[in-house]
Amino acid sequence: MIEYKGKDPDTDGWIIAENNFDPRCLAKFESIMCQGNGYLGLRAVTEECYSGEKRNLFVAGTFNRCANQEVTELPNAADMVQLDLTLNGVPFHLEKGTIHRYRRELNLRQGELRREILWEDEAGGMYELCFRRFVSMEDLHLIGMRMEITPLNQDTIITIRSGINGQMTNSGAQHFLEGERRIFDGELLQLSATTTESGINFVHTCHHRLHQDGVRLNSLPIPSMERRKVMLTYKIEAESGKCIVLDKVSTVHTSIDTEWVYQQGNLQGLQEAARIHLGLTADKGFEQLFVESEQAWAEQWMNARIEIQSEDPFDQLALRFAQYHLLLMTPGHDSRFSVGAKGLTGEGYKGHVFWDTEIFILPYFIYTGPRVARHLAEYRYHMLNGARKKAEENGYRGAMYPWESAATGEEETPEWGPVDVVTGTPTYIWTGKIEQHITADVAYGVWHYYQATGDQDYMDRYGYEIILETASFWASRLEWNKEEQKYHICDVIGPDEYKEHVNNNAYTNYLAYWNITKGIECTRKLIQVQGDVYFKLDSQLNLNGRLKEWEHIVKFIYLPQPDKDTLIIPQDDTYLQKRIIDLEKYRKQEQVATILSDYSMTQLSDFQVSKQADLLVLFYLLEDWFSKETKAANWHYYEPKTLHDSSLSLSTHSMLACDVNDLELAYQMFGKAARIDLGPNMHSCDEGIHAASIGGIWKSVVMGFGGVRSWEGMLRLNPKLPRAWRSLAFPLVWRGERLQVTVTPDKLLIKRLTTGLRPLNLSIHGQSYILKDSIIVNLLEVIPNE
Ligand code: BGC
Repeated sequence: MIEYKGKDPDTDGWIIAENNFDPRCLAKFESIMCQGNGYLGLRAVTEECYSGEKRNLFVAGTFNRCANQEVTELPNAADMVQLDLTLNGVPFHLEKGTIHRYRRELNLRQGELRREILWEDEAGGMYELCFRRFVSMEDLHLIGMRMEITPLNQDTIITIRSGINGQMTNSGAQHFLEGERRIFDGELLQLSATTTESGINFVHTCHHRLHQDGVRLNSLPIPSMERRKVMLTYKIEAESGKCIVLDKVSTVHTSIDTEWVYQQGNLQGLQEAARIHLGLTADKGFEQLFVESEQAWAEQWMNARIEIQSEDPFDQLALRFAQYHLLLMTPGHDSRFSVGAKGLTGEGYKGHVFWDTEIFILPYFIYTGPRVARHLAEYRYHMLNGARKKAEENGYRGAMYPWESAATGEEETPEWGPVDVVTGTPTYIWTGKIEQHITADVAYGVWHYYQATGDQDYMDRYGYEIILETASFWASRLEWNKEEQKYHICDVIGPDEYKEHVNNNAYTNYLAYWNITKGIECTRKLIQVQGDVYFKLDSQLNLNGRLKEWEHIVKFIYLPQPDKDTLIIPQDDTYLQKRIIDLEKYRKQEQVATILSDYSMTQLSDFQVSKQADLLVLFYLLEDWFSKETKAANWHYYEPKTLHDSSLSLSTHSMLACDVNDLELAYQMFGKAARIDLGPNMHSCDEGIHAASIGGIWKSVVMGFGGVRSWEGMLRLNPKLPRAWRSLAFPLVWRGERLQVTVTPDKLLIKRLTTGLRPLNLSIHGQSYILKDSIIVNLLEVIPNE
């Protein structure tokens, strides 16, 4: 069972716990209790092995293609967590014997995973065991582990087999060529391996130390090597009542690590550097390394703490859980990489990057850690040539970003997916070909980042080019409809992936239009005030010619309008003519996508049923383009037809329910969104956490109830708390200034933490304010009465 309480007041609110051992739920806990630091992601597998587990260790950005017909994915690095333990000859295994006490806790404040067990083997031997583990936030390469074993009722021969197991695969796909295995000085092990296609060297190194009563045991281990495996076996005679401690410190380095690429070193050099690094590090000892990581975690939390005083303490925990995972999933150290749809917590979606990043994850970093946001925005620039290639291959101009992106910016969406219940064959995945809104989403991310940070350097070097090239793509993508005398966009998938091959998906058309208008605006600005940047880009992109074309076509792009009476905007050309069916059974479902067991994708196309928020996302991205009445009418029309079968859906609905002033509904939906991974459904995240949904938890809180938005360079705050909350306090970074915002039901306090000279213009519930040092606003006076 999952528990959301710490054992003492100090840790309460920071702990997720598993209070009994149930092998059926291993995958859930492996995902939610995953540890990492943006460079490494280590699933919370147990030290001993069980069937049904997924022993994954990923390094950000190390993509490899296993075979030509497969797409590239993040390879599963060697397992350094596994410990085979026998106690008087009996293997330690929780499916045997009796568990008298069991608790595993993840501490979100400092990233420690701790498992405490009182176990009796089948012969009556009683043992107390404690396993501790962290992935260092201080040293991105490092994993620290400690195991304590105390035999309670007999002297015991303990054997521990531990080392580096490179026999790992990604669900059967082997990504590595076997490399060198070595044991140095009987205690330091090293195993290297090279990815088969991308040629990335991985160097895994580990070191063990045994103690009893604080005194190092010099027990000589027996070394062994097998294919892709190097191990040490320790044999210890432990007295009853005495605790034996094993410390294991491991590191992973790869040949694409920034510092290594910079040095242009070879594999031998990397192996040696890794050994020296681990030798020095291991000497500090587990406790010291843990303290260093703990301090680095404290720094991360210092500027990011959000406090919710709620009737339900789960709300606060869910938000911390989201922030914990946002840190883990984001390779903030390196702009060559971005965030996978499952972060680094599982094989799901193969580590690929989706629109999830720009629309659901980037906002967190824009408003709390702009340095990391810049890296995410730079990633798309590094992928620009891949996107240009995709456009060219498809007969378009400019840059057409891939629906699923990895290391090159080329399309990485697999072609075949789950079974089609009607034909019994795999379903063809169309998203890579026709889910094209991603190109505008990328441009939106760039613009959002620029508006909130004012980072002109980013725009000059990278941002303008992305916006101009994506605008150029859309200009070439539009199709002239003679009858209507309008440009249409036909044969696409919008965000609602239950509708394939539709024409004029409103989300896509509006964002394409927005993207071209931004292309025009940027070009005009460059001509007027940034001649040097204009000159550089014009010589490459023929901006003058493009500007004329865009100014002409933009007026003719078809933008579906709200119906005069109902205010409903058609999601696409045919959605509103489709059959409405009773969805109650599916909306009550525990698991997602159960409708696909009854209908094929082709059959689903005939119903007014949506996988996720589609049109509604526009109301958040382009909020001033739609009236409040239109937003409310469409929310209430489309939501009942939505199954929330994508984890991206609920948080969007929650945020927009705040906009249409239905705070209790917004709170209900926030609660559901916050429970997608963390809630009691034991299989919702077996393949990894849902990165976008986790970004969405922060968005629901800060952009929904906190009401934080920005529009064309103006920061807006429209806070409104749900009944269950007494207060909400959060930090915000805006244009380089750090602010602290506190909201109670009747008051808003904004404090400026940096001593900037410029007064900041803000809009609060539609009224203008100037922030010097602080502002207090009586919300009861300014919230419009609706
Ligand atoms: C959703 C997409 C999302 C992808 C990755 C799909 O199920 O429909 O919107 O980008 O998952 O999270």
